[in-house]
Amino acid sequence: MEPKTISQSMVIWLTGLSGAGKTTLATGLEKRLIESNTPVILLDGDVLREGLNSNLGFSEQDRLENIRRAAEVAKLFANKGFLTICSFITPLEQMRELAKKIIGTDHYLEVFVDCSIETCEKRDVKGLYRKARLNEVKNFTGISSGFEKPLNPALVINSEQQTIDESLDLILNFYLSKITL
Ligand code: ADX
Repeated sequence: MEPKTISQSMVIWLTGLSGAGKTTLATGLEKRLIESNTPVILLDGDVLREGLNSNLGFSEQDRLENIRRAAEVAKLFANKGFLTICSFITPLEQMRELAKKIIGTDHYLEVFVDCSIETCEKRDVKGLYRKARLNEVKNFTGISSGFEKPLNPALVINSEQQTIDESLDLILNFYLSKITL
C-alpha cells in the first residue's frame, strides 16, 4: 500500500501553559527535523507577537485573532510542503477548534504539553508568573485568565515526567505513525 503523503502538509500544534515547555519542544523538534532534511517551519507565539501579531493583547478576543492568524499562516506553509510546528498557549477549546478548522482535521496534530500550574510558576522562566501575582501583568493564563485542558489532543506530553529527549521521541514517533498508516 502506498504510504499516505500527508506528511507534506502537517501541522504539529503545541498547546499548554506558559512555561510548560512548548517552545523548548518546538525548537527541539525543529532541530531534529532539520537534521533529517525535513522542510520545517516553526511559528511561536512570542515571536509572532513581536511582528505579525504585535497589535494583539491577551483578551479572549485578541487571543482568538492571534490563533486565527497563526493557523492561516501555518496552513500556507503546510500546503507548500513544510512540516509546520506551532507553539501557542491556545488556552480555550474554541481556539483549538478554530485552528483545527482552518488547518483541516487531517492535517492538524494537537499535542498538549501538560504541566501543573505549580511547576510552571516555580520554573517562571520569564518572570511573568511573579508579575501576574503582583498584578503587573493582566489576564495571565492560569492566574487571571482561563486555561481549558484540551478535550481531544492527539497526544499528551507530560513535561514534569518526561525528559525533553523522551518527549521529542514521542512526538516524532507519533507523527511518523500518522504519516505511514
Ligand atoms: S495565546 O494565548 O494567544 O495562545 P501566545 O502563545 O501567543 O498566547 O503567547 C504567550 C506568551 O506571551 C507567553 O509565553 C508569555 O511569554 C507572553 N505573555 C505576555 N503576557 C501574557 C499573558 N497575559 N498571558 C499569557 N502569556 C503572556
